[in-house]
Amino acid sequence: MKTLAGKRILLVIGGGIAAYKCLDLIRRLRERGAIVVPVMTQAAHHFVTPLSVGALAAHRVYTDLFDREDEQDVGHIRLARECDAVIVAPASADRMAQLSAGLAGDLPGAVLLATRAPILFAPAMNPAMWSHPATRRNLQRLTEDGVHFVGPNRGEMAESGEAGEGRMAEPLEIAGALEALFGAGDAPLAGRRAVVTSGPTHEPIDPVRYIANRSSGRQGHAIAAALARLGAEVTLVSGPVSIPDPAGVIVVKVETAREMLAAVEAQLPADIGVFVAAVADWRAAEAHAGKLKKDGSVPPPLELALNPDILATIGKSERRPRVVVGFAAETDDLLAHARGKLERKGADLIVANDVSHETGIMGGTSNTVHLVTAEGVEDWPSATKDEVATGLADHIARMLLEKPRP
Ligand code: C5P
Repeated sequence: MKTLAGKRILLVIGGGIAAYKCLDLIRRLRERGAIVVPVMTQAAHHFVTPLSVGALAAHRVYTDLFDREDEQDVGHIRLARECDAVIVAPASADRMAQLSAGLAGDLPGAVLLATRAPILFAPAMNPAMWSHPATRRNLQRLTEDGVHFVGPNRGEMAESGEAGEGRMAEPLEIAGALEALFGAGDAPLAGRRAVVTSGPTHEPIDPVRYIANRSSGRQGHAIAAALARLGAEVTLVSGPVSIPDPAGVIVVKVETAREMLAAVEAQLPADIGVFVAAVADWRAAEAHAGKLKKDGSVPPPLELALNPDILATIGKSERRPRVVVGFAAETDDLLAHARGKLERKGADLIVANDVSHETGIMGGTSNTVHLVTAEGVEDWPSATKDEVATGLADHIARMLLEKPRP
């Protein structure tokens, strides 16, 4: 589908190994109908050549702020004005710091300050740089200034083999995030922020063993994507899963329940909170620093401690999103349990599914759900998790519209 037909996208290619992914990104944007206008930083020349970028974009590549020909008519202002969106990929820590401080010392910097079009950053950097307080500050400030972000993802770094958060989002995810940005204009959740939890949590017993469950993350991930399709700015806080990140959402990856709670709290304030994660109720009271040794026939004692209830903590907090949705997977007394959770956890809606039947089995692809609110119960026919997600996102959009502002 030509979802970006006729859109003029300024693609600022930054310096970093991930720049090679921009060649594929150009293809993905063009196959969606976009006109790609590439701008390369000086550093980007070390990683990809203007020749290959220009050939794939079928467009001239801009590189220099002081280009005599272009700047006769203040070319950077023209570039900034004549585009529908700007993508910065890879966006380095340095680029984030520059825009956050309003610096315009090179062509991309000048364009980013001069444009009024939406800006989408796809950060890529070493995990230590991404988690540095200075980068966190810049991220916060840029988000407040209205800059959109996709990624970075967790994974192995191309240059060092180090694992962590800092890997640039994949071209398809970046294209998806851009589509969501453009969809946002006439979407019911445009300008709304949503946080969604998904997947299981892993609770370490020792460095190699952990407590987990069978959650695949499919339902939570599908809901995050469906909310993004309605124009919401979505952060997905995900436990360890083996499915790909959904398009058009920011993904924060965590392992434990306590990390998940902290990551959700960092996303507040938000308009919508959807808590789909199968959070482990208990963790090992004490995670051993070294691997527990087998000792004859006597198993080691395993003492458990209670994990925080993320839904209840947020649902009952002062910073609670306007619409809070929880899930309840039950094998018996489904509706009674769901009603109890509605009350106890401070949710506006509990999506109840009966896991005693085959359709509701955790990790499967379909779901039979009942929507439980203070007003009553709505039974939905069995559907795929994607269909449930789409219906639920619509339902949440209506709830938000109908709910009076406090
Ligand atoms: O109490 P129960 O685990 O059945 O509640 C399920 C709901 O509560 C889900 O929405 C789940 O994401 C949320 N939950 C949570 N933190 C926990 C346990 C459950 O957010 N520790």
